[in-house]
Amino acid sequence: MLRVIPRCVSARSPVLPFLVSAIGVSIYFNQSIRSFVFSRSARSMASSNVYADLPNGRKIPMLGLGTWNSKQGLLKTAVMSAIDVGYRHIDCAYDYQNYGEVGEGIRAKIAEGKVTREDIFYTDKLWCTFHHPDDVEPACRHTIEKTGLEYIDLWLMHWPMAFKRGDAQYPTDDKGNYFCEDIDYTETWKAMEKVYEKGLVRAIGVSNLPLEWLQRVLDVSKVPIANLQVELHPYLTQVELVEFCKSKGITVTAYSPLGSPNSPDLDTNRSVPIDDPVVIEMAKKKGKTPAQILIRFQMQRGINVVPKSTNATRIAENFESYNFELTEGEMAELLSLNKNMRFVKYHESFNSPLHPFSPENMKK
Ligand code: A2P
Repeated sequence: MLRVIPRCVSARSPVLPFLVSAIGVSIYFNQSIRSFVFSRSARSMASSNVYADLPNGRKIPMLGLGTWNSKQGLLKTAVMSAIDVGYRHIDCAYDYQNYGEVGEGIRAKIAEGKVTREDIFYTDKLWCTFHHPDDVEPACRHTIEKTGLEYIDLWLMHWPMAFKRGDAQYPTDDKGNYFCEDIDYTETWKAMEKVYEKGLVRAIGVSNLPLEWLQRVLDVSKVPIANLQVELHPYLTQVELVEFCKSKGITVTAYSPLGSPNSPDLDTNRSVPIDDPVVIEMAKKKGKTPAQILIRFQMQRGINVVPKSTNATRIAENFESYNFELTEGEMAELLSLNKNMRFVKYHESFNSPLHPFSPENMKK
């Protein structure tokens, strides 16, 4: 029998223990969503979303569909397949230049009556050319118009560095260096807060910020930082950053949870977590796939996760990660694979003093 936690109740709601006995599903987070526990009865639960609470009381589905680097023309169908198998969280960004197609997929499912707009959690990201405070609201309005989604559920600052204002998405000089602007990301954040106050977006957050940089945003923020989205997988576990976020009530989303195996940025010799022998062995032992192990690993750390795929079979496979459990020993084994290895470096903009992962800033 399909057992589903009602959408209005997050997995760490204080009323959950009562619901547990009422609906026979015992699934809960502890206070800081540190240990995400699926009981035996929950394992029999067919795919259904589990939510984390945002500081403003809204809820974010733990598992979403990532859309970066997806081949044009495949994404509308991919989004529709994802919604069909149960995804309610879609992660996108201006930078990916595919938000129109993503919006089309979501709107097609709304038109079919499969979901309502309120059922969908749509994340988008402010691009680096729009960091000037005067550009922030128009950028947001542009995305909303192009997706046709009326509002954005979670709007993140994609990177802390600002690029030259204007139409070029990647403004470069004749040496190929990116033109950067001297705009502090805390000023951009304040402009994002104004957009939030106008109701264009339902929550705001940041992405690709190290701990100290996140603290600088916290120091000026009037609107709670709802989410930090960063690269996370067993080779880059960022334990301190994740714990810091939990202590501040900031939810965390993992991008590249499989290690972005098909990323154009990767050098060809480099091994990725989805090919790691420990992950492959664990998957075999549990009758799961390596991707499911890696996705489940993040969820069980209390971290939202947005694996990318345009393949309907893999989209469905990834969604099944809700339906099994890693033991404490398996979690520890995966955590022990950490090498502080970052795959998404965005080296083209290392010349910006505000590039968080430039060799210069990494030394500090
Ligand atoms: P595809 O779109 O062909 O499925 P990440 O989210 O870590 O960046 O990884 C995304 C990449 O991993 C995509 O290229 C995607 O390719 C591939 N991928 C997604 N799900 C799976 C899976 N279950 N098994 C193998 N590869 C996957």
